[in-house]
Formats: sequence, C-alpha cells, structure tokens
Amino acid sequence: MNTAKDHYDQQLASIYSWMAGTPEVAIKRNHDLLRQLGVCSSQGLAIDLGAGSGFQSIPLAELGFSVISVDLCETLLSELRDLSKHLSIRTVYDDILNFSKYVDEQVQVIVCMGDTLTHLESLNVVQSLLLRVESALATNGKLILTFRDYISVEPQGTQRFIPVQSNESTILTCFLEYREDVVEVYDLVYRKEGDRWTMSASSYPKLRIDRHWICNQLKKVGLEVIHNEMVNGMICIVAEKL
Ligand SMILES: C[S@@+](CC[C@H](N)C(=O)[O-])C[C@H]1O[C@@H](n2cnc3c(N)ncnc32)[C@H](O)[C@@H]1O
Repeated sequence: MNTAKDHYDQQLASIYSWMAGTPEVAIKRNHDLLRQLGVCSSQGLAIDLGAGSGFQSIPLAELGFSVISVDLCETLLSELRDLSKHLSIRTVYDDILNFSKYVDEQVQVIVCMGDTLTHLESLNVVQSLLLRVESALATNGKLILTFRDYISVEPQGTQRFIPVQSNESTILTCFLEYREDVVEVYDLVYRKEGDRWTMSASSYPKLRIDRHWICNQLKKVGLEVIHNEMVNGMICIVAEKL
C-alpha cells in the first residue's frame, strides 16, 4: 500500500499546483480565509504543517509572520521556494510530527490545512500531533485545521468518481473507496502524448476524522475551539491555547 509520501512523489507532486488552479488564486483565497479566521498581521512565528507549494505559508509570510513550512515532498517545497523568494519562509523537509525539532521559540500560529491532517496514519498519530502542537503554541496562540468531511455523507455508485481538473493534454479523475477507518483515494491521471492518451493510477488512504472527535481531542490537550464551521467544502476548526 502507498504512503502519502509515495503518492505525492510518484503521482500528485507534478500536477498539484495545476490541480488547484492557479497558485495566485489559491494564495489569495487562503489570505482571505486567514483574515476571516482572525489571523492578523504579526511579526511572530507561524508553522505550516504539510505546506505543499505554499498556499498557506505565503499568505502567512505576507501577513508578517516568519514561517517554517514542513513537508515530505521536496518537489512541492521547491515550488514553494520559487513562489516566495522575498518572503521570510524556511522550508523543512521532514515529517510534520517532527516539526518541534525546528522551533526554538513559542509559536503564534500553527496551520495544518488543505486536508493534510487526513494523511496521517491513524487517529493515535493525530492525537500525538495535537499534543506537540499544544506544547509549541504560545498562550493565545492558534491552531487552524481544515480537512475534508469523510464521515457524514458516504457517496454511493457513480458519485464516487470525481472529475478534479482537466485541460487539452491532462485529465485528473479521483475515485473514492470508503472503508471503515479510511477512504482509499485513487488518482487517475490521463496524459496526451502525441495523438495517444496514457493513464497512470495510484492510490493512498486518507483518515476518516470526525469533527466532534477532533474537538474533544483539542479540549483534552488544553486547546479551546473558537471556530468550527464548513469553509470551501472543508471542515474548518480554529483552536486557541488558553
Ligand atoms: C493535500 S496537500 C496540502 C498542501 C497545502 N497545505 C495546500 O493546502 O495546498 C498535503 C500535503 O501534506 C504533505 N504531507 C502529507 N503527510 C505528511 C507528513 N506526515 N509529513 C509531512 N508532510 C506530509 C504532502 O506532501 C502534501 O504536500
């Protein structure tokens, strides 16, 4: 079975930014969302867990934060560096569970957005990440999570086939297979080479995380949930360290 790292390295990294539309639009959307969630201009430290090509790191740096962007995909981290040459962003190639190794001061904001949390191996690993987040945050520091709801509606039949993005030479379709604890996500990429189409298929599991469960876990580790809503089709939770 593929890990998230294998899947990004072999299948998604080369098309991730294209899949999301244009980077400028994704960056602007996250800029607006961060402001809407009460993240204001600051000179403090922010950590982006699963930063990808920087759709949250860049707006955080534009707001004045020094950002540490952690990811296990070197291709996406390299895109992030190209997009953010003049900003205060340090990219770190490592597992998000190890983020605190790179932090030597208290952190104002930690984000884990764009459905990164569901890439973790198990709910126990999610719990362990939340504990590490709590101990890294400054008082009144915030954790922002956005992830897909794989719990409340289980698509059936042809609803499980999702046309994600296409142009004249590339088509990305996603197929979802629901299991008890995970959804196996199959990404099918069709590429036109000359007058022929080739297909590559790869899959990886995503955790089914219940929003009530995560709110309870946040409370258990000492973080107060101050936002819990749906934003752009994702569960969006903001928790603050008291
Ligand atoms: C769905 S993308 C989200 C990227 C970015 N936050 C966004 O919204 O565009 C998930 C990212 O998390 C990274 N990732 C997944 N599991 C990881 C882990 N355990 N440690 C570090 N990065 C991880 C992947 O390489 C990928 O870049």
